[in-house]
Amino acid sequence: MVKEIPLFKKYPKLTNIPWVSIIVSPTPVHKMGQTSKTLKRDIWVKRDDLTHTIYGGNKPRKYEFVFADILKKGKKTIVTLGSIGTNHGLATTVTARDFGLSTHLFVLEQPLSEGVRENLLCHHFFGAKLHLMRNPFHRKLAMKIKLILDRSSYFVTLGASSPLGTLGFVNAAFELKEQIEKKIIPEPDKLFVTVGSLATCAGLVLGLELAQVKTKVVGIGVTDPARSSKQNTIELAKKALEIMRSKDVSIPDVSREIENRLIIDHSYFGGQYGASTKEALEAIDIAKKDELKLEYTYTGKTLGGLIDYCQKNKVSKDEVVLFWNSKSSADMSPHLSKIKYKDLPKGFHKFFDGTIKMKEGDV
Ligand SMILES: Cc1ncc(COP(=O)(O)O)c(C=O)c1O
Repeated sequence: MVKEIPLFKKYPKLTNIPWVSIIVSPTPVHKMGQTSKTLKRDIWVKRDDLTHTIYGGNKPRKYEFVFADILKKGKKTIVTLGSIGTNHGLATTVTARDFGLSTHLFVLEQPLSEGVRENLLCHHFFGAKLHLMRNPFHRKLAMKIKLILDRSSYFVTLGASSPLGTLGFVNAAFELKEQIEKKIIPEPDKLFVTVGSLATCAGLVLGLELAQVKTKVVGIGVTDPARSSKQNTIELAKKALEIMRSKDVSIPDVSREIENRLIIDHSYFGGQYGASTKEALEAIDIAKKDELKLEYTYTGKTLGGLIDYCQKNKVSKDEVVLFWNSKSSADMSPHLSKIKYKDLPKGFHKFFDGTIKMKEGDV
């Protein structure tokens, strides 16, 4: 089968990197009508909330390369990690189920919200084996033991942000370039994207450079600034570039150029992963008018940052601004109606039975 993804069209020699079709693409890109009215300037959105019919968002793009590697190696069980409401864990579980693989999720607590609860229920509904860990050290050990005991298991790193996963977003940049060429969107001056485990931003910045699109990337950091730093993002992009250049020597070494394309800003982080901020909650309300479903751990903070940049004239009026919507908007209510919290392993009941409270205003 000819792999007609934009990245392989540009670099046919990369087709010997394992890849498997998972996403619905290209994802739409369009103007955010109501948000543009509110901000009195045009704001565009890339609808990566729609990458998959069951559970979309940014993760499935990474899995086209990560799952291809899992399948090639004949592994049967995925071992991965996150917080209790991990979107990555849910997307992994849904995808693994499609390929007949099982998923073990090793999770830590995080601030409780309705969205976190929903994901927890869905993890179980789609078949994940859940393991609640006391701390990162305990988790590392437990995963190591699982990987040693189960030789058919495959470790997927946090957020699938491996160099292979990053290629999914290099491809996304080429997809955007095709949409620019088809005049579906004018060439953006700035693209705002969430930075968590890094691969989304790293892949985009590398892909945009290789695609020679002028777009600069503003990454909004939503985790510990030491982890979601510019340096770490660039390092990951360079590793993805190394894979590409090992298959096709004609691909230029753009490791220096990508640094000039990227700003990472943690001003909208709010001091804690998963905690809400005023800007994020306002952004969620604004996006609702465009029928976009954001949340405050990732996309709300990113759109909040974009809005603040516009209001403070950190992007000029004539610049084309694009918001990368990375959170699935799939309706999970049909699945949720089929599951009760008591179906989860007992250790997780405390997130539902009132033992652990949600902060007021956090939904
Ligand atoms: C909805 C959503 N958006 C954005 C991100 C950030 O992407 P990345 O982990 O690739 O930096 C994540 C995960 O961290 C996420 O779950």
